[in-house]
Amino acid sequence: MPMTFTPFELLEWQGRLGPTATHSLADSGCRPIRLRDLVNSEQSLNQLLDSELSYPPTCGTEHLRALIAQWHAGNADHASDVIVTVGAAEANTVVVENLIRPGDHVVTMSPGYRQVWGAAHNRGAVVVDVPLDAQRGWRPDIDALADVVRPGTRAIAVTTPNNPAGTILTEEEIQAIVSIADRVGAWILSDEVHRGTELYTDEVSPTFWGRYDRVVSVGSLSKAFGMPGLRLGWLIAPPTITPQLRQRHEYTTVSAAGPAMALAELALTPATRTRLLNRYRGFLRESWTQMQQWVDTHDQLLSVVPPQATSLAFVRYHLDLPSTEVAEALHARAGVLVGAGAHFGTEHHLRFTYGQEPAQLAAALEKTSQVLKELSA
Ligand SMILES: Cc1ncc(COP(=O)(O)O)c(C=O)c1O
Repeated sequence: MPMTFTPFELLEWQGRLGPTATHSLADSGCRPIRLRDLVNSEQSLNQLLDSELSYPPTCGTEHLRALIAQWHAGNADHASDVIVTVGAAEANTVVVENLIRPGDHVVTMSPGYRQVWGAAHNRGAVVVDVPLDAQRGWRPDIDALADVVRPGTRAIAVTTPNNPAGTILTEEEIQAIVSIADRVGAWILSDEVHRGTELYTDEVSPTFWGRYDRVVSVGSLSKAFGMPGLRLGWLIAPPTITPQLRQRHEYTTVSAAGPAMALAELALTPATRTRLLNRYRGFLRESWTQMQQWVDTHDQLLSVVPPQATSLAFVRYHLDLPSTEVAEALHARAGVLVGAGAHFGTEHHLRFTYGQEPAQLAAALEKTSQVLKELSA
């Protein structure tokens, strides 16, 4: 095991500076729904009020597992492969703890959400980051990935749609990554938490689930469904490892909360699911135009590869300053909180959660402009 513990820097940052920020563009679970938007009939309200607060089934109710299987596979056949967890955060933790042993070779990509990267480090793995390149639209370099993956590679961790870059892996890229993993028998951990947040299509992004016998896909209601406070996520894995994952999950949390499962059943019911996804994509599409226009007005200073999905813009700044310094200055001078590129393994970028209310976004961006002007003077 490693001598030093790698903390989750992004969350530490948000926890430390969030309470004193007046303009928060750091939280990727933006514009959450209200309970009343979900529980909007007398029947569903009464059902909830009458439900017993007993221990729920550890892996989730049968109905919810079927709805989640539907989300990944288009049918409920794989409901027994689903484990409902406390957010995707628990799902990622359980998978890493189960699959990764000290000394294992694990491949991740940067920029990326650093949970699996950090958790694998903390298991004592040798973690190799394959950089994604903005010049290639943040798309993975499949040849570079093939060079890094070697016999004995234990796992390849991917995030699609990507946080913070917003790229969606294509069917061809997914197939190529599966072939690379298959060559050496590596597991694929696919974090698909941002599925459903597509900007340019109403088609949900492709999943890795079902394409290979060593894939675990992870999902959650925190993003496209607008329910981060519910702390409701899941993993879907092949029967070869679900029993072990279940054992880890039982140690960690026993189960997700019963009322959260009941609300998740409502959210994933086909008609409600469509309504929630339309809602989220609608405001992303509106706010992206605003965000893009703002970046364009700083063309000497800022540039961005437009995301294909997510509420996130990973903006390059052309200043010779570390990203944490720029982000600290934004917070200290203007009360604006954004993610620093360093938190995603890629310097000279800031991550803006642009999918906010237009007026809030405008106010935060105006403040950001002032500070960037000061820093570049
Ligand atoms: C890629 C990714 N994975 C996992 C998580 C954690 O999600 P949850 O709120 O479901 O725990 C996040 C949250 O930002 C994320 O962006």
